[in-house]
Amino acid sequence: MKTIVTMGRGGTGKTSFVALMAKYLIEKQATPILLVDADPDQNLAEMVGVDLEMSGKKTVAELLAETFIAQGGTTVGIAPSKRIENRIWEQGLYEGGSFDLLAVGTKWVEGCYCLPDAALKNALGAITKQYRYILIDSPGGLEHLNRKIASDVDIIFDVIGPSSKSFAHVRRAHRVIQEVGIRSGRFYVIGGFAFPANLNARVATETGLLYGGKIQEDPYIADRVMTGRSLLDTPHESPAYQSVSAILDIIPGDP
Ligand SMILES: Nc1ncnc2c1ncn2[C@@H]1O[C@H](COP(=O)(O)OP(=O)(O)OP(=O)(O)O)[C@@H](O)[C@H]1O
Ligand SMILES: [Mg+2]
Repeated sequence: MKTIVTMGRGGTGKTSFVALMAKYLIEKQATPILLVDADPDQNLAEMVGVDLEMSGKKTVAELLAETFIAQGGTTVGIAPSKRIENRIWEQGLYEGGSFDLLAVGTKWVEGCYCLPDAALKNALGAITKQYRYILIDSPGGLEHLNRKIASDVDIIFDVIGPSSKSFAHVRRAHRVIQEVGIRSGRFYVIGGFAFPANLNARVATETGLLYGGKIQEDPYIADRVMTGRSLLDTPHESPAYQSVSAILDIIPGDP
């Protein structure tokens, strides 16, 4: 099992990157895959052609609230982690043909007081165990990940945008990850679609971190996102998909 987290500042292209990464892994038959939307804005599902509400699925935050607030705190018998695990299996997990998807929901980031982090981590640990790849689309900071989802991450991709602030952000992000105790195998800086290619070399000199390549700007992607359509049927020759494939191809040990 490999856990891959994509993070970065707002609008740098994280979610579309995760969607294209899913397409890449599906084509390599590196399945089963679990996509985790840890962003409160929740648009990963749409980018892979899933409507969670229509599928009758709820976010982990909603299930937590329903299970432990609305229906009262404690119940004799079943341990809290088992109770939420069962609810997530039944009502949270979207099961598709080539991937499954789980949305974390809003309250996650605000902090959920209703269940000890350890119990949720146990439940998610049990659920995620069956996957070969877990791709997590994460908002800015990663503190919430460590507390609730994954403290063992194989690869972190930090997608950067076109500002010099990006370099400072990446250094800070890398430091925060170490401070909150996320064990991460590898940390790659990825140039987002708007990142100027001529600044590639600065990534290494200014951050001391590995540069994993650049996602190409691609009007097709912009159009698909704008119209709310899936990126999974992006044509093979799309520059964005080609660049994402190239990034993933160079990563040692991955398909
Ligand atoms: N490769 C690309 N080429 C051109 N435009 C792109 C590309 N990838 C993403 N975009 C555009 O940039 C916008 C932001 O992309 P995306 O949602 O993937 O970024 P994000 O970092 O996840 O944003 P947020 O921080 O809001 O979650 C999208 O609306 C899309 O139109
Ligand atoms: Mg996003």
